[in-house]
Amino acid sequence: MPRRPSKIAMLRRLAKDLSRERGKIGVDAASAHMKYRRFFKTQRYIGIDIDRERLITGLQRHPEDTGILANLAEYRGPGNSVDLLVSSNTLHFMSDEDCMAAVMNFVFMVKPDGRLIITKHVDEVSPKVLELLQRSFEDVDIFFYKNSLSMFYESLFYDKGGKFTGTLLARIFTFRPLIVLLSWLEMLTNGCESCNHRMYISCTRKRTKEPENDFSLDGLTLAGQNFYIA
Ligand SMILES: C[S@@+](CC[C@H](N)C(=O)[O-])C[C@H]1O[C@@H](n2cnc3c(N)ncnc32)[C@H](O)[C@@H]1O
Repeated sequence: MPRRPSKIAMLRRLAKDLSRERGKIGVDAASAHMKYRRFFKTQRYIGIDIDRERLITGLQRHPEDTGILANLAEYRGPGNSVDLLVSSNTLHFMSDEDCMAAVMNFVFMVKPDGRLIITKHVDEVSPKVLELLQRSFEDVDIFFYKNSLSMFYESLFYDKGGKFTGTLLARIFTFRPLIVLLSWLEMLTNGCESCNHRMYISCTRKRTKEPENDFSLDGLTLAGQNFYIA
């Protein structure tokens, strides 16, 4: 279990949403070592990441799945071909331009009746991201998380990059019941934009008249078992 209350709150929501998504193609955009593989119930799981090592570690654990080494700001799979596309805890690593380009690519790939889920820091680029999503989907549901209380608690043990900086004692005494309580308190404030620092955005009913397509790996280079390079 993660030690960060905000992450627990986010994962609780992600696990619930993904448990209902039984479509064909699930894409984990910035899958790292496929650490959220277990949440996906789609028939196929495709992890995309820019980090070769992490992706290969993921494929060693899940050899039946597919890994694509790609930059999300550049990789654009077939249009209207993905039933579920998730990108969590990643867009804030990108420049504003790359973040917008990646979100446009996600929108392009999702099927008309598919679902796109992203998490995003609340920052200067988030209004633009929201505007793009609201223009592209009929339903855009936002769950705000990482409230000031969780933020303060996490600042005691983590640096700005999210790295645990606590001492050994803190590692032992990062009180689990308190973390779980704080994660549930997140539910009380998840409608409030100004008291939170992150957004979990779930989009459905894409506004398009184009038909759906089959997902395909054509044009990618096969570089190992189920491992492709874009
Ligand atoms: C903090 S991890 C997030 C992993 C997982 N999605 C999660 O929610 O914990 C960020 C991942 O994004 C990947 N990443 C960062 N920039 C990327 C880009 N432009 N294209 C593809 N992956 C990228 C990194 O390699 C890393 O594995």
